[in-house]
Amino acid sequence: MKIIAVANQKGGVGKTTTAVNLAAALAESGERVLLIDLDPQGNATSSFGLQEIEGQSVYDPLLGETPITEKILPTRLAGLFLGPADIDLAGVEIEIARMPDHLTRLAQALQALRDDQTFDYVLLDCPPSLGILMTNALAAADQILIPIQCEYFALEGLVKIVRLIERIRDSGSNPRLELGGIVMTMFDSRTKISAQVVAEVREHFFDGVYETVIPRSVRLSEAPSFARSILEHDPAGIGAKAYRALAREFRQRQQGGANPDIPGAVEQSETEPRDPARQREK
Ligand SMILES: Nc1ncnc2c1ncn2[C@@H]1O[C@H](COP(=O)(O)OP(=O)(O)OP(=O)(O)O)[C@@H](O)[C@H]1O
Ligand SMILES: [Mg+2]
Repeated sequence: MKIIAVANQKGGVGKTTTAVNLAAALAESGERVLLIDLDPQGNATSSFGLQEIEGQSVYDPLLGETPITEKILPTRLAGLFLGPADIDLAGVEIEIARMPDHLTRLAQALQALRDDQTFDYVLLDCPPSLGILMTNALAAADQILIPIQCEYFALEGLVKIVRLIERIRDSGSNPRLELGGIVMTMFDSRTKISAQVVAEVREHFFDGVYETVIPRSVRLSEAPSFARSILEHDPAGIGAKAYRALAREFRQRQQGGANPDIPGAVEQSETEPRDPARQREK
């Protein structure tokens, strides 16, 4: 089982859209997937129409009061399960902040799932902040998947996350955290800026960037209001095609073993010559 944090401290970059539709596409291809909504806004939860259930979130498991397995709901898609968010989750940061192990509460709560191997992948939809919930997600995850919008300032935000990953590793709370990849979202082929941003991010992060780029599509943005993933909402459209392609590439990267690491933090022992763009990045 692998735990993937879908995270970016910047708001509105496509974290939830990517977490929901990648999870759906992975389940469609036969993987057993659990999506955990770690955002008190509950957007991933309402994307499945499961927002009305009170007391059904990782709030209690984070406090260590209930096993996480009791908070998992099935979705309409075979193989896809949801750990929903509710409004209680907004208070959890304050509750656990005073606990001595407050950064590893989620890792501890998820240990039962690692032990029983019910799922192939657990995706964590993170809130847009560098708060305790996101830090817990990074401390629990094997990899971080970073959606970024094809817009100016994309790189500036990335630099902050890369620093955070390094901090989490160095702090000892999760030395094995890897950069699972950067996914460029809301690509608009009619504008020059989209292509420029993709080129710029690739120049800095090389193969850390997914080949698959998610296009801007109205169908993707309206799917949650029908409580459907894009695979059900517009199965043959560009959004569904893109997220199926992302899922394929995701699986290939997982099977490929060595994941792309953070450029600039690459082991010195590597003998393969690297893209010069990598050498510049520090
Ligand atoms: N590829 C896309 N094409 C068009 N609209 C999109 C696309 N991806 C996301 N959106 C829309 O952009 C908005 C932000 O997306 P989303 O909620 O996925 O981002 P987020 O990073 O999870 O936001 P937050 O930081 O608030 O959690 C939403 O209205 C969503 O429907
Ligand atoms: Mg979100």
